[in-house]
Amino acid sequence: MDKVRVAVIGATGYTGAELLRLLLGHPQVQVTRVVGHGKAGQPIAQVLPSFHGVLDGTIAAFDADDVRAHADVAFLALPHGAAAAVAKELRARGVLVLDLSADFRLHDRAVHAEWYGADHAPELAKDAVYGLPELHREALRTADLIAVPGCFPTASTLALAPLLRERLVLTKGLVIDAKTGVSGAGRSPLPNTHFPETSEGIRAYKAGGQHRHTPEIEQELSRVAGEAIRVVFTPHLVPMTRGILATAYAIAVDEGTTAARCTEAARALYAGSPVVSVLEPGSHPDTLWVRGSARAHVAYARDERTGTIVAMAAIDNLGKGASGQAVQCLNVRLGFNEDAGLRGVAMFP
Ligand SMILES: NC(=O)c1ccc[n+]([C@@H]2O[C@H](COP(=O)([O-])OP(=O)(O)OC[C@H]3O[C@@H](n4cnc5c(N)ncnc54)[C@H](OP(=O)(O)O)[C@@H]3O)[C@@H](O)[C@H]2O)c1
Repeated sequence: MDKVRVAVIGATGYTGAELLRLLLGHPQVQVTRVVGHGKAGQPIAQVLPSFHGVLDGTIAAFDADDVRAHADVAFLALPHGAAAAVAKELRARGVLVLDLSADFRLHDRAVHAEWYGADHAPELAKDAVYGLPELHREALRTADLIAVPGCFPTASTLALAPLLRERLVLTKGLVIDAKTGVSGAGRSPLPNTHFPETSEGIRAYKAGGQHRHTPEIEQELSRVAGEAIRVVFTPHLVPMTRGILATAYAIAVDEGTTAARCTEAARALYAGSPVVSVLEPGSHPDTLWVRGSARAHVAYARDERTGTIVAMAAIDNLGKGASGQAVQCLNVRLGFNEDAGLRGVAMFP
């Protein structure tokens, strides 16, 4: 069988580099275009030294006709706003688009405008399918524009969705405390992601319902619950490069919501997923157990004194939180094994 020709647009950033790494190991894919923006024209191995001896050539500038001529699929690893404009050009040429930005994730475009401002391709947004295969596998099989979820929404949704789906917890009072590694902020250095200011401290940011991933988490959990869900979501920046750990708190509906019952509900929901493992009660997922992989680890505990369920999920923000999940979506869309190119286990320790 001919390999599928794939372009990575935004290949010079962190999610783009991770896409290249995964796609080069994918048995049914051929990477035909490596596209950048400011670094266009530079040798690939100079911009991404880990590809020395693996990937020759230079970073291309974006040209929609050139991408169309050489690729049937494009992954967009671009800042939001920039991605929508590129998606528009590529969809007009019939290219299958998997967008890692936030441009098409929110179905309610008024909510999108509230959190992200101008809508750069409103006519495309209605056709986008949210790229969390564990909740949208059937719709993804025919999608031509896939909105790959954010990293925090992936971990948070995987932890809480089974509990809301089976009505094991109250729909009010949901709290999500999540920790991210610094690569979540992308490759461009900023004062607040600079090594001396991140390496030995930990801080919350955008507390008080200010983080843009909040409406995305609410969109997905509302759909699963069948009613409008609101969450208190507080992200934290922690001194590690990769990883997200989401710890969520939900009030059990009754004594029957045990950790074992939550585990059973999650195993039922994720039975078809080759990348989500639901660990036994008593386990505490660790970002180290999924680092460098496309896998997610989920586990549950019950606080008997307060009747609270503690739902935990660990992912690699660049793996199941971005590029690994995008490849998983491609596999579903093209009918490949869902974990093709994604069978590598975590680098441990
Ligand atoms: N990092 C994560 O953990 C993560 C997780 C989930 C989703 N995402 C989303 O994935 C997307 C990429 O994130 P990232 O962390 O990989 O970012 P990044 O490391 O900052 O890389 C950004 C990429 O976009 C290109 N670029 C920058 N400005 C551009 C413009 N105006 N027009 C076209 N291309 C432009 C850059 O090219 P040059 O370097 O050549 O200028 C680079 O290839 C973002 O939308 C982000 O929100 C990131």
